[in-house]
Amino acid sequence: MSSTTQTVTLPVCDASEIKNGDIKDFEFGEGEKKGKVFLAKVDDKLYATSAYCTHYGAPLVKGVLATTKGHPTLRCGWHSACFNLCTGDIEDAPGLDSLYKFDAKEENGKILVTANMADVLSRYGRSPLKSDKRAIAQADEKSSEETVVLVGGGAGGHHTMESLREHGFKGKIIMISKETAPPIDSVTSIDPDAKTVTIDNGADPIKYDHLVISTGGQPKKLPIEGANLENVCLLRTVEDAQKIVAGEQIQLDAGNLVPCLNENAKVAIIGTSFIGMELAGAILKKKPASIDVIGVDAVPFAKILGEKIGCAIQKDLENQGVKFHMESNIEKIAPSESDSSQAGSVVLKNDSPIESTIVIMGTGVQPATSFLAESGFKLEEDKGIAVDEYLQVEGKQHIYALGDIAHWPEYKSGEKRRIEHWQVASNQGRVVGQNISCPEKRIAYRKAPFFWSSVGKGLRYVSTQNGFDDIYIDGDVDKELKFVAYYAKGDEVVAVSSMQRDPYVAKSVELLSLGIMPSFSDIKNGKNILEIDLAGQSASN
Ligand SMILES: Cc1cc2nc3c(=O)[nH]c(=O)nc-3n(C[C@H](O)[C@H](O)[C@H](O)COP(=O)(O)OP(=O)(O)OC[C@H]3O[C@@H](n4cnc5c(N)ncnc54)[C@H](O)[C@@H]3O)c2cc1C
Ligand code: FES
Repeated sequence: MSSTTQTVTLPVCDASEIKNGDIKDFEFGEGEKKGKVFLAKVDDKLYATSAYCTHYGAPLVKGVLATTKGHPTLRCGWHSACFNLCTGDIEDAPGLDSLYKFDAKEENGKILVTANMADVLSRYGRSPLKSDKRAIAQADEKSSEETVVLVGGGAGGHHTMESLREHGFKGKIIMISKETAPPIDSVTSIDPDAKTVTIDNGADPIKYDHLVISTGGQPKKLPIEGANLENVCLLRTVEDAQKIVAGEQIQLDAGNLVPCLNENAKVAIIGTSFIGMELAGAILKKKPASIDVIGVDAVPFAKILGEKIGCAIQKDLENQGVKFHMESNIEKIAPSESDSSQAGSVVLKNDSPIESTIVIMGTGVQPATSFLAESGFKLEEDKGIAVDEYLQVEGKQHIYALGDIAHWPEYKSGEKRRIEHWQVASNQGRVVGQNISCPEKRIAYRKAPFFWSSVGKGLRYVSTQNGFDDIYIDGDVDKELKFVAYYAKGDEVVAVSSMQRDPYVAKSVELLSLGIMPSFSDIKNGKNILEIDLAGQSASN
């Protein structure tokens, strides 16, 4: 009988059950203490790890095996986290933690795995710090005397912090962020010559050796009459989300009670991009009296996913009771007749007013960089900031910018892109952490940007360029939201999206990053990308 803390060696399968290129998972343990281990075989060598992704717990066996980085890796089929199978280390976000690594060997026709039961049964991964002596050895020795200041405690900031320690940075890390929970405080200005940041609490400026700015976006409020009424909400911060989903009346700072989501709620959502459409799907679960979605375009997501898929996502929400008002312009938000501090309806220019007890604006974000402009930094037209391939701010030594605010050069075309995705910010944070820790071995950011969204039946999307001029959909989107869509410029596939067809997009991340995605004509002629063997491919980045 194995206790939950014991290290045990158990047979998991016959040797003939796993061949080169296979990934499988097997039960491990007994009774209630039974878990699973993941096994891969590459070049006659066995690799065993914990069986679930450290992000949201996807079974790794649904992912993609590759040797494109010079060692075997497993890319999660859900949201594209990537793990090194030799060590279990995390290599690509969105997960923060690494996998547990176990020993595996073949003996008398059986595969034996040696693992600690607590690690097998753990719902969480292993902290990357525990094992990575390799990275620690790489870190620049002088890093122990240095200070890194991280401005912004979101996706990018957090992953930078983890990556700094993972890569052996031994100095001081100060995170400054303007949440109401720690780490609080807001940066108001930067002096690149004195290498200091000033914060809004009146304290002395903070000195840095390296500065990382990842202040994200701030939601744009439509400049219309009624936009400041109390039950008109934005969605970016935890407080914004709490205000929307409280379900009951909640107390705001001013002492007013605001009706939110309950069965009497009439919800008007302005905007049909990801925030608006995800919100409509999430709010449906609260069973409000009505949900009206208002958009200026003819079809949601047409520019990014194509009209056919956009229409199908809209229809899916309509079937669940959401009402759409497309190609609509808003005149104003009118106050409620019973309380002039509250919105009572959204007035459209070309349609009847939409009665509402709560109005949510999902109308895009703008980079939160006003303090940079005031500090003399040159900003782009959209208020973003240009960085080089190492994510260093152009013309500024020791200052990095990443995530929603950064315009970075796309690795193939050199074209500048600014993308508001969790995984982009997180992976850029990982790169910056490594570049500060190991300046001799700094790396360029060269990932094919991936994102996921809970719209429809769970969207996955990867792209190497903006826009497309042709689209091929494998699947009948009118019948069900189950498809893989390939987007092309000429005969080159530049983006892939999917719903309920994992791991097509995870595989596409590998293929696009390596520059070996089949041509658009090959895909249309039936080429199945899951059949492409990635063992033995070498990385181009
Ligand atoms: C509701 C919602 C849903 C989303 N869903 C998805 C999704 O499904 N998939 C996906 O890929 N992406 C999604 N995104 C986008 C994703 O969250 C962002 O792209 C990502 O968080 C960007 O990371 P970042 O580090 O650049 O900025 P953020 O994560 O926004 O972090 C910015 C940080 O900077 C701080 N800050 C700002 N100004 C200052 C200042 N002057 N001084 C100090 N601190 C400051 C903020 O308080 C915050 O901590 C969603 C975003 C929202 C709002
Ligand atoms: S569950 Fe694996 S990346 Fe999200």
